[in-house]
Amino acid sequence: MLRFYTAGESHGQALLAFLSGLPAGLRVEMGVINHELHRRQLGYGRGGRQKIEKDTAEIFAGVRHGQTIGAPIALRIENRDWANWEKILPVEASEAAETKSRKLTAPRPGHADLAGSQKFHFHDARYVLERASARETAARVAAGAFAKQLLNEFALEIASHTIQVGHVRLERAANWEEIRDICKDLASPLRCVDAAVQEKMKAEVDAALKAGDTVGGVFEVVAHNVPVGLGSHAQWDEKLDGKLAQALMSVQAVKAVEIGSGILAAGSYGSEVQDEISYDQAARRFRRSSNRAGGLEGGITNGEDLVIRGYLKPISTLRKALGTADMVTKEPVQAAYERSDWCVVPAGGVAGEAMVALVLADAFLQKFGGDSLAETRRNFESYGRQIDEF
Ligand SMILES: Cc1cc2nc3c(=O)[nH]c(=O)nc-3n(C[C@H](O)[C@H](O)[C@H](O)COP(=O)(O)O)c2cc1C
Repeated sequence: MLRFYTAGESHGQALLAFLSGLPAGLRVEMGVINHELHRRQLGYGRGGRQKIEKDTAEIFAGVRHGQTIGAPIALRIENRDWANWEKILPVEASEAAETKSRKLTAPRPGHADLAGSQKFHFHDARYVLERASARETAARVAAGAFAKQLLNEFALEIASHTIQVGHVRLERAANWEEIRDICKDLASPLRCVDAAVQEKMKAEVDAALKAGDTVGGVFEVVAHNVPVGLGSHAQWDEKLDGKLAQALMSVQAVKAVEIGSGILAAGSYGSEVQDEISYDQAARRFRRSSNRAGGLEGGITNGEDLVIRGYLKPISTLRKALGTADMVTKEPVQAAYERSDWCVVPAGGVAGEAMVALVLADAFLQKFGGDSLAETRRNFESYGRQIDEF
């Protein structure tokens, strides 16, 4: 239903996003899109680039008079660094000295540099890293802002917070209100709901920087007010847990995805893991005693908060460079170093929110359809009555 893709190199002219399948009549606020882009640039442990670039989106198609018109949406985020790269990465063939100056033949372990160069038959990893770079998440975040605006129309909200940086972990559960509030606090350095734990996380980031090293961590994305019944148990590729896992796993540096308390559950007894069901007569709705399933059972949303975590490996580009082999000379050399972040957990969370929003909006439109928002709303409300009367 909802399709999107992105284009653009990290140091090219711009990033582009294309989004198709949104109903007509959805109000689009540029402020919301730019706010999400700004949030992606924040976080303790980011490199110099975030300071020189302030991302903003421009819409070229699909939105007129402040609302969607049912046509594909095209948007662009300018790379402000392009001025410094114009001669290095020109579109046209070039013999200029600058064009050769940033060739990268010492592939960085942990990046797509070597495998991508071998696959596409380049002896310059520049072409690969330019697209593999997580700069691409800016385009995803802009597309995700549309999905969020659709979901918000139906009271569904998405937020994320940091639960681990390096070896420092938030050991308690956070509730929805805390997570929503910390997302609004743009001054929060690592978007952790516990101030004391956050101080320890900051120290971990500082220690990594001092040692020329990097850290990974875990972000948690929570979707609140999710209706029962998105996704399906009926076919493997309709299961929403599978779609969400793929979406989060596709975020650069995410190496594992957890839904609810999935990792802990693997080492527990069944009696410790399931969420018992009861019926609340007054509210006329089913309830669960806990939400260890993270809002998904059998690949279907069950009406509880959707809780999904992305596990980020430490950033691969190290100031204290790792050993590698030059792609041209085949000699042992030190891996190339490019200006780099050394902790991206909060930004990873923002990219994770966008991916969860896009997957949920797609599942939402599959369930409720509608060429106009009014039609989607009628279908949603009618289904709501069916659930109330169940
Ligand atoms: C928001 C964000 C920012 C990132 N910034 C950097 C960076 O500055 N330097 C770096 O080496 N990796 C960075 N990464 C991770 C790499 O893009 C990623 O590890 C690499 O493309 C290889 O992909 P893989 O780790 O998914 O296999 C970042 C990831 C995210 C989510």
